[in-house]
Amino acid sequence: MFFATPLFSAALMMLTSVTALPQPEAGGLMGRQSSCPSGSYQYNQTACVECPAGNTCNGGSSTPQPCDTGLYQPNTGSTSCMQTQPGFFTNQRGSTTPFACPAGSYQPYSQQAFCYGAPKGRFQQQSGKSFLCATCCGWAATMDNNNVNPVNCTGSTPYAWPNSGDGCISSPTSCTRAATCAQAADGTCPGETIRG
Ligand SMILES: *[C@@H]1O[C@H](CO)[C@@H](O)[C@H](O)[C@H]1NC(C)=O
Ligand SMILES: *[C@@H]1O[C@H](CO)[C@@H](O)[C@H](O)[C@H]1NC(C)=O
Repeated sequence: MFFATPLFSAALMMLTSVTALPQPEAGGLMGRQSSCPSGSYQYNQTACVECPAGNTCNGGSSTPQPCDTGLYQPNTGSTSCMQTQPGFFTNQRGSTTPFACPAGSYQPYSQQAFCYGAPKGRFQQQSGKSFLCATCCGWAATMDNNNVNPVNCTGSTPYAWPNSGDGCISSPTSCTRAATCAQAADGTCPGETIRG
């Protein structure tokens, strides 16, 4: 025991006695990590800081955890993230607010990082929507993607129905031309509603 100098012995005894103490509920080295309340994080050895918006903090981590894509958190001091609702998307980690799907696109599911574009024969005139509208008889949506407003078929090619992806045609396909093909103020489709 050549290393057992009096000083070292004292230190060893202290360590031993500390180890022998009853363990506090959140004590010891673990306690230092989880000494901050939920919704805050260990900023340094002595300070707990409220969790910033866009993040979650369980009190036990030294760094806030950014909300994943598809999730967001507008409030500070949070322990969980919120789900992005249908019609919206969150494409950045650590977001405080979701974005509305722009007109010409939609998102039928929650917790998503993107929106789907309206393909041929479908359109969406409004933002923040979870569905698409099918075109009306006499109206066409011919772009591959992001159709916002259906086009009125006129002149020698007044028809288009039911899937207007091929554009306006001259002969009727068992449909009666619709005078308008606009969504209502609340987004209700003039014809068929496409979900999912
Ligand atoms: C911890 O951070 C706080 C706030 O910035 C500061 O006042 C304090 O001195 C820091 N303590 C240590 C041990 O660094
Ligand atoms: C669509 O075109 C038809 C045929 O030209 C016309 O009668 C109708 O008024 C047009 N509708 C709109 C909303 O422009």
